[in-house]
Amino acid sequence: AASAASAASAASAASAADAASAASAAGAAGAVDGLQAVGARLPRLDGVAKVTGAEQFGADRFPVDSLWMRCIRSPHARARFVIGDLAGFMQEHAGIDAVVTAADVPHNRFAIFPELRDQPVLADGEVRFRGEAVLLLVGEKDAVMAVDPDALPIRWQLRPAMPECETALDAAEADPEDALHARWPDNILCRGRVNAGDVDAALAALPPGSHSASLEVVTRHVEHAYIEPEAGYAVWQGERVHVFVCTQTPYLDRDEVASVMDIDPARVRIEPSAIGGGFGGKLDLSVQPLLAVAAKKAGRAVRTVWDRPESMIATTKRHPARMTATAACSAEGELLVYDFQGDFNTGAYSSWGPTVANRVPIHASGPYRVPNVRALTRAVLTNNSIAGAFRGFGVPQSTVVGEALLDELAQSCGIDPLEFRYRNALRAGDSTPTGQRLHASVGLRECLDRLRPAWAGSLERARGFNDAAGADGSPLRRGAGIACMWYGIGNTVMANPSTMTVGLRRDGRFMLYNGAQEIGQGTYTIMPQIAAQALGVPVALIDQIHGDTDATEDAGKSSASRQTFVSGNAARLAGLDLRAKLAAMAGLARAGDGQAQLPELRIAGSKLVIRDRGGTQVELDLAEMPADHRGDVAAGSGTFNPPTVPLDADGQGVPYATYGFAAQVAEVEVDLDLGTVKPLHIHAAHDVGRAINPTLTEGQIHGGIAQGIGMALMEEYVSGRTDNLHDYLIPTAGDIPPITTWLVEDPEPLGPYGAKGVGEPALVATAPAILNAVRMATGVRLTQLP
Ligand code: MOS
Repeated sequence: AASAASAASAASAASAADAASAASAAGAAGAVDGLQAVGARLPRLDGVAKVTGAEQFGADRFPVDSLWMRCIRSPHARARFVIGDLAGFMQEHAGIDAVVTAADVPHNRFAIFPELRDQPVLADGEVRFRGEAVLLLVGEKDAVMAVDPDALPIRWQLRPAMPECETALDAAEADPEDALHARWPDNILCRGRVNAGDVDAALAALPPGSHSASLEVVTRHVEHAYIEPEAGYAVWQGERVHVFVCTQTPYLDRDEVASVMDIDPARVRIEPSAIGGGFGGKLDLSVQPLLAVAAKKAGRAVRTVWDRPESMIATTKRHPARMTATAACSAEGELLVYDFQGDFNTGAYSSWGPTVANRVPIHASGPYRVPNVRALTRAVLTNNSIAGAFRGFGVPQSTVVGEALLDELAQSCGIDPLEFRYRNALRAGDSTPTGQRLHASVGLRECLDRLRPAWAGSLERARGFNDAAGADGSPLRRGAGIACMWYGIGNTVMANPSTMTVGLRRDGRFMLYNGAQEIGQGTYTIMPQIAAQALGVPVALIDQIHGDTDATEDAGKSSASRQTFVSGNAARLAGLDLRAKLAAMAGLARAGDGQAQLPELRIAGSKLVIRDRGGTQVELDLAEMPADHRGDVAAGSGTFNPPTVPLDADGQGVPYATYGFAAQVAEVEVDLDLGTVKPLHIHAAHDVGRAINPTLTEGQIHGGIAQGIGMALMEEYVSGRTDNLHDYLIPTAGDIPPITTWLVEDPEPLGPYGAKGVGEPALVATAPAILNAVRMATGVRLTQLP
């Protein structure tokens, strides 16, 4: 990751390779060499390096003398245990250099939120979920893999497990001493709440002709199923530890590994590998602290590559949810009330449970004008897989309920489901249930307008098909369904700043220090696009140093759909800052000059030509100029932190600086005899503010839809039963129907060139649209996913 890749050569090679799309290649070449980088369909700048193997994934690189780490895990969901004679065990097993236990971990507690640190690196006498790490065997790979876990001197004392919210809540009520953690005697990790208007009063006094509908929906654990399982190595170099690992969050990894090792964060270097997908699953620590502890004890480099079952059993899942809601509207279809409660099974440790519990109430009533909203959540601790971050942080689950209720109300009112949503849609100037005024970039109605022809066509096709199928006695029926969504970009209220730096080198090339971790979404392509646009130079002149906690500034996590909006702003500000600094060096800066007056930069070999708006031109020979320790003759820096206002006890405040909006239409075919559902087409309209790179934006939407199809129709993780990709089904290419996308660009004034984010918004509307389509096809309202 610390190697600089030439944007120019990568891009032109990618263009040449992509002979099938000559038009996009031509457009991309223009963007590389020209000055309009934002909005260009630039091929991925890291694409060729990923295909050739120049970019290395977690398993691809390790010191030659590395030992192998094998983690021994609990076969029980809840138990106490005692470890016996390890010295004797090692004498009987050749080739094992070290056995690592809780006693070897300096500070055996970590979490996403430092104030919650509740999860041991290695269990200390008690396990709380099946698959929890108990001890590490470190040595020659053949030797550690040959060990029969039953040969280990571990004595288990089983305890009754509480795998579901209901069992955990009941058990803690009967006996608080029996709670998973003494700190949370009711097994409730946290609660979330938004309260606007007066729900009880509004429900008690609904106007004549009003309609209301209620629903309970249950969703189950979902596995991220990224292509690349967790892998990496750690090696101690004197007082410092170097960890090479696949991750979405190198800076959190650094701080938590430092805390676990009880050392200063400056003594930890996290070098992210290339990453084969994350989707939230790599926002948690996995191999990082285990490798650091193992390498310390072994006194050698230690590596590991988890196989698929270990990856699935050990890492976080999407929160299972049990949600109930009631919605009411006037006779004319104006939404009046939304009353929501949800319990989210957060598993054995805190992970991202607070984020889910807080994000869901804000989004529960959907992107609509609703005067009376009450949305309550609980994150419940259980003896089940740790539920953490997964694309949408609980909003995909709660949207299933809300969009189902909207369809039921539309039907009661006799209003077309798209029209019903259009009438109630938030628009600029409206306030949300948290009391936040949305000033601009509320493109939901435009999304719905773009979908009108597809929606009308979908309904017509389904009705035509069903008339014929009914006449034929066929068991097949078709349906069309629509759903909307909104999604707050960035962390909920919490500060989530990003800093980027861009330097100019003596050879006339720019160096972007890009700490916005690439997880497949495209930050290594769009950050250079944004920086180039701000500098007013071609993307071809920009090289990058990627995320590496020793070499880049903290750009925060690749999470919460935040990188385009937050780090994109940092990249833009860094470019503008460098441009202003170069103007000052040339004596062309005037106090009070705005961005529009910044001089133009032109590079000719190692010569920099700076020309101001008045036509004055100064030429600097960069080769003659002194460079700093990084090799830059000048550097610009930018930091952006989205402005928010903390929420009060009723959830009132400004949780996010901006929101993405979308509407999707699903066409499905249902076999009434077999109960199978086949998606036929997904139509997706997304307000992204501005598509920095429309190809990558569409790619995010396609991927999100694929995961939404899986969530709706096939994915259910059951620990011990489906922790492999044979029994756990995810959509394959053959399950993905044609997808049509519309990019709506209602610019966000705070965004870099108007951009917001799309990573999580891509997924949220898909499952509810499919379930609404199944309802039309069959008359059946499905309330359990998958
Ligand atoms: Mo995400 S759930 O912020 O990767």
